[in-house]
Formats: sequence, C-alpha cells, structure tokens
Amino acid sequence: MKLSVIGCGYLGAVHAAAMAELGHEVVGIDVDENKVRALAAGTAPFFEPGLPELLASGVASGRLSFTTDMSAVKGAQVHFIAVGTPQKKGENAADLTYVDSAVDAIIPFLSPGDLVAGKSTVPVGTAARLAQKLDDAGSGAMLAWNPEFLREGFAVEDTISPDRLVYGLPAGDQTAPARELLDTVYANALSRETPLVVTDYATAELVKVSANAFLATKISFINAMAEIAEVTGADVTQLADAIGYDARIGRRFLNAGVGFGGGCLPKDIRAFAARADELGRGESVAFLKEVDSINLRRRQRVVDLVVDSFGGAIFGKRVAVLGLAFKPDSDDIRDSPALDVAVTLKGLGADVIATDPEAIENARRVHPQLAYESDLQTAVSGADAIVVLTEWKQFRQIDPVALLGTVTTPYVVDGRNCLDAVAWRAAGWTYQGLGRP
Ligand code: UDX
Repeated sequence: MKLSVIGCGYLGAVHAAAMAELGHEVVGIDVDENKVRALAAGTAPFFEPGLPELLASGVASGRLSFTTDMSAVKGAQVHFIAVGTPQKKGENAADLTYVDSAVDAIIPFLSPGDLVAGKSTVPVGTAARLAQKLDDAGSGAMLAWNPEFLREGFAVEDTISPDRLVYGLPAGDQTAPARELLDTVYANALSRETPLVVTDYATAELVKVSANAFLATKISFINAMAEIAEVTGADVTQLADAIGYDARIGRRFLNAGVGFGGGCLPKDIRAFAARADELGRGESVAFLKEVDSINLRRRQRVVDLVVDSFGGAIFGKRVAVLGLAFKPDSDDIRDSPALDVAVTLKGLGADVIATDPEAIENARRVHPQLAYESDLQTAVSGADAIVVLTEWKQFRQIDPVALLGTVTTPYVVDGRNCLDAVAWRAAGWTYQGLGRP
C-alpha cells in the first residue's frame, strides 16, 4: 500500500520505517529539513534501538523516502498524522497547532476515498472536529483515529508487533471503507491475531489518554507508598514485589523512584485534566492533579536527600549525576526527572557533573550551564555524592568496589532503586534508595 506519515519525530519516524519494513511504500514528511536530510540518508536523528537498521534497509529498498514537500503525499491512500501535541506554554492543555497545520497542509493533496489516520495523542473531540474540516474543504477524504501505544526504547517492536490495535472510525457509509484500508495497513499484525478494538472517534481518543493516565497513576501510587515507607522504615521495593504477585495488580509499572517523565505521561495527564474541566467533568479526573503532584514531589525528595547528606551545605560539593534521559534506551530529555534534578542541584550551588550514554547532546542544548562528561569514570571521579537517576544498564552494572577509589565520599542516592543495596553497602558505600530504609 502507498502510505504517507506526517511528522517524523519519535512516533512518526518509527511508524514510517516499520510500515516500509512490512512491505508498504511510505513517504515521511516533516518541516524540519535537518531531520528529513538525516532520515532520507537512512540515519536516525534520535536514539531508538533497532531504528537505524530499519531506516537503512527501508531507504535502500526504495520503499521508504522522506521529504519536506507536502505534495509528495499525493497518491498515498492512507495518511498518518503523527505530529506532536505538546503542553501549551503556561497552561495544562495540549497545543494542537501542529495537528491542525498538518491537516490544513495535506488537504490540497488529498483524493476522494483517501483515509487520514490520526496517531497523535489528542483531547477527546479533536477527531470529530478534524473530520468536519476535511468535509468542509470538500476533500472527499475520510478520517479515522488510530492511537499509538509505543514505548520509547521499544518503539520498533511495539510498532511491528503491537499488543492491540484501536480504530476510531467515522459513522455511516464510511465505516467499511475506512476499516478496510486500516486492515490492509495492519494485515501483518492482524494475521497474528493481534487484538483489535473497532470503535468511534471519542472512544479511540480516550483509550490513549486513559491508558497513559492509568500508567501514571500506577507509578504515582507506588511512589505515594514510598513516601509512607520513608516515615515508617518499610521497603517499597519489597512491598511492590509482594502486591505485584497479585495478578489483578501486577508488578509492572510499580517501580518507585524519581518518578515518570518523557514526552507523554506528564503532558497527557495534564491535558486530560484540562479537557475534563472544559467538559464540565473536572472532578472525574481531579485525582490526576494529585498523581502529578506526587510525581513532582519525588524529584524534590532526591534533591533533599543530597542536600541533607551535606548537612545543608551543598555549595561547591561535587555531585555526579548518572542519567539525563527520562528513561533508559532513549536520548529523550523531555520533562526528564533526571535532568530536572541535575538542574536544581546546580541551582543550589552544587558542582554538578552529569553523564548519560545517549542524552548528553540533547541536555546540553537545553541546559548549557551544566557540566557534562561522557566517560562514566571521569564523571564520578572526585565526587562527594553520586546520584543515579536513569536506570541505564551501564549504571546498574557498576562495580561498587571498583568505584570506591575514584570518589571523594562513598555516598550514593539510587533514584531508581536499581542498584543492589546490599552489595553497595558491603563495599563501604552509604546507600540511599527511595522509599527504602
Ligand atoms: C508511555 C506509554 O508507556 C506508552 O504506551 C505511550 O504510547 C507513550 O507514553 P514512554 O513515554 O515511552 O511510553 O515511557 P514509559 O515506559 O511509559 O515510562 C514513562 C516514565 O515512567 C519514565 O520516566 C519511566 O522511568 C517512568 N516509570 C516507569 C517509573 O518511574 N516507574 C515504573 O515502574 C515505570
């Protein structure tokens, strides 16, 4: 099938490359010339395991191309909208500027019977409005909402083998043709009996935001338990193991630590709460404000632990921050708790030196005031405290005995509860986890 993908960020670039891998002919469009140049040359403009291979083979096969020229979408039957919906400046609501301009820009190139398939995370009600826009323009094109659930770090796997597919379809005589087109796009996953939920626009839009709201709530729940553990001497990691054995609860997304960040969870719960307010149902998701507060308190907790370890006198202390990305296997620093903590410690006068296997360049662009060091050994050398904030394998595997000789003070804050506390203590370190004695 001939497909177009509008917006080639973490979502769109992976979607385009994965669709080409599955045999479709795909053109990716983005306004960012540098990004398009890299993608067209078969190289990934951001870190995502497996993506470089997919891009290289897709571009070499001739099935995958990238351009800034919107007219290249002509002839494609399905057009995916994969642009960002960031948080509005100074507000909690989502900024839909990019979604609207993508749809406006594509309209002149649509043919009757084409399908525009929205993938971006949008406030409920957006799809109906965009469908009306396509109608008002007399495009003859249909609209579907087809949310994406990919996780960064596993984006390729999640796109090729999704755990479910959701189609939000137009009502009336467009239902069958829209569904047929999506079934052809996803023939590979459907042949493996991937669960499929066929529904209306509003449900499809809500599936995505409620999934992210649930995940954020699960993380903040365990972080709230960590706060209670901290005043009672309990261990939140053992608590998570014990409640996680209950299949109704499950152990995944019960890792207490410095909390969630990234380009999705934080802004999606805020946008959801803002949209619910607009709909007069703010009270239904008022708990999401608490979820957000718990999450942000964990960042402050890490800062407080470090400051307290110096008896409040943090000025000039050398603090090695291990991790900048919002999670491992990603170079994404959007709303990253790690970067946030690093910047706060620096603001308090600490001599912060930060390291990360992939995210240094992105972090440097936004926070040039921080000192960065790509070599882990150099970063920790002479440190008065080490703070682990992203659970990269490289950090989890650090040998605490070997590291002992390089630091000034053997003090470690494990902001992800990802180190072996027993081994670090046995090696002579003062180990401090979150929600752990
Ligand atoms: C999320 C959703 O998982 C995905 O389905 C959706 O499509 C996009 O948003 P992503 O942002 O890639 O994906 O990251 P995710 O793996 O969900 O992690 C989000 C944040 O939560 C990270 O900062 C992570 O460190 C944190 N987290 C996750 C915890 O603090 N504890 C956990 O137990 C799990």
